[in-house]
Amino acid sequence: MLTAENLSFSYSKKPFIENMSFHVGKGEIFGFLGPSGAGKTTLQKILTGLITSYRGSVRLCGVECKKHGSHFYENIGVDFEFSTLYEKLTARQNLIFFSSLYTRKVRPVDNMLARVGLQNDADKRVSEYSKGMKSRLNFIKALMHDPEVLFLDEPTSGLDPTNSRLMKDMILQEKATGKTIFLTTHNMMDAAELCGRVAFIVNGSIKALDSPHNLIMRKGAAKIKYLYYDGQERTGECLLSNTSSDSALLQLMRENRILSIHSSEPTLNDIFIDITGRTLQ
Ligand SMILES: Nc1ncnc2c1ncn2[C@@H]1O[C@H](COP(=O)(O)OP(=O)(O)OP(=O)(O)O)[C@@H](O)[C@H]1O
Ligand SMILES: [Mg+2]
Repeated sequence: MLTAENLSFSYSKKPFIENMSFHVGKGEIFGFLGPSGAGKTTLQKILTGLITSYRGSVRLCGVECKKHGSHFYENIGVDFEFSTLYEKLTARQNLIFFSSLYTRKVRPVDNMLARVGLQNDADKRVSEYSKGMKSRLNFIKALMHDPEVLFLDEPTSGLDPTNSRLMKDMILQEKATGKTIFLTTHNMMDAAELCGRVAFIVNGSIKALDSPHNLIMRKGAAKIKYLYYDGQERTGECLLSNTSSDSALLQLMRENRILSIHSSEPTLNDIFIDITGRTLQ
């Protein structure tokens, strides 16, 4: 679906994105993760044909991104980092307008508004919308023409847990119908849940690219930590894979002396800090 080969780009004379290469297959949810200023949105702008002054090659659906024609946008939907809605128009008017730009059959406006809980605010001007309402509207705007490829730049940023869940479920529903999805996020939990593979981007370079599971396994096996009573509270730990043969743990369990027990898997966040030496914030 997408192949980048030796992609290079900079806003200035100083090198930024240099010789980046990666491939994304049809039906994948592919995550771009990285700290603020790493180049995630810049990369999305290149892949969606908005930045054309790059070197190397990026082909999306067989089309070199900088040479795309207008048909290119029939197949892709973009949920931009910042709201791209007309504030003076209502939500319904915005969706009708943007849908009219496509030649392919579009999804029903009312149904899409209802899916993100905006059915009762359909005729309100966007200027009267809250931040989370705008995020949801901006998101469905990208889906209206049922595109094959979706670019979502921090779609759950600023959403409450219920709406964040709703949006993640919609992203998974799109994947289930075979869509290819590029997802930029700072949220490691979302990335681990949604993405088949993730690329860690720091200062314009991919520092690691793999499935969340493989990246986590690099950090080493999961452990369990337990608290037990031995005249006073004490802690112990062993590898999760060794619980059936760890004699100290087995003895404590036989004697019912375990007070609490937790598994402690590394998280994607731990991996990010390990790989890049930086936090995501
Ligand atoms: N239009 C522009 N002109 C010049 N420099 C820019 C432009 N847009 C972005 N940059 C610079 O490019 C770098 C990468 O920006 P980008 O928006 O791609 O980061 P990001 O990874 O999306 O960050 P965030 O997580 O904060 O959204 C930053 O140093 C930024 O200042
Ligand atoms: Mg960004």
